[in-house]
Amino acid sequence: MQDFWNARFKGDKLLYGEAPNNFIKQNVELLVSAKKVMCLGEGEGRNALFLADQGFEVEALDASDVALFKLRQRAKANYLAIKVRHTLLEYWEPQCLYDAVICTYLHLPKQSQKSLFEKSLQALHVGGFFMAELFSESQINFHSGGPKNISLLYDFNDVLDTLKLLPCEVIKLSQEVVILNEGENHVGRASVIRIILKKL
Ligand SMILES: C[S@@+](CC[C@H](N)C(=O)[O-])C[C@H]1O[C@@H](n2cnc3c(N)ncnc32)[C@H](O)[C@@H]1O
Repeated sequence: MQDFWNARFKGDKLLYGEAPNNFIKQNVELLVSAKKVMCLGEGEGRNALFLADQGFEVEALDASDVALFKLRQRAKANYLAIKVRHTLLEYWEPQCLYDAVICTYLHLPKQSQKSLFEKSLQALHVGGFFMAELFSESQINFHSGGPKNISLLYDFNDVLDTLKLLPCEVIKLSQEVVILNEGENHVGRASVIRIILKKL
């Protein structure tokens, strides 16, 4: 998996463009009193750079050292300080509590999907926010990006069942068809799951 992502991120092009994910950008005002933000599966850093530029103290975790190298170069060029963690989400042991954890398009195998939500909530201060946009299983029928392997996509009811057992208020949980325009790799109509949680 790391080799797959390293090969994808090779070269100067940004796979998902420079701009932050729209859903994260649209909801950034929820983070008005947040300071520390963790970005999971952050790749080349489009969300992390945006958030650091907004004044947050940002950390970015990813399995791909190639993507994280690009993220660090971009942060340096923009005079932004972003801490990076090169690890699999599965091995992540948060060293501190965050005010927000965000995640866009982290394609985890079914057996790890639950732990994305569990670990993110464990890593949050009470009152902290988790925000994510993920491809739903219906994305298998669209041609706008994402894995062509259903076991790496998210099932809405599985997410709902997982969240019911976790210490959070569900502020938003929806499956929507949206229009993506993110670099060359997420373009067109797409089926996504959008999630905003508040840690209880
Ligand atoms: C589709 S890209 C999305 C990158 C970024 N979130 C964005 O939206 O621009 C998926 C990212 O997740 C990372 N990734 C995949 N599986 C991972 C895992 N188990 N733990 C940590 N990162 C992982 C990949 O290296 C890649 O950077």
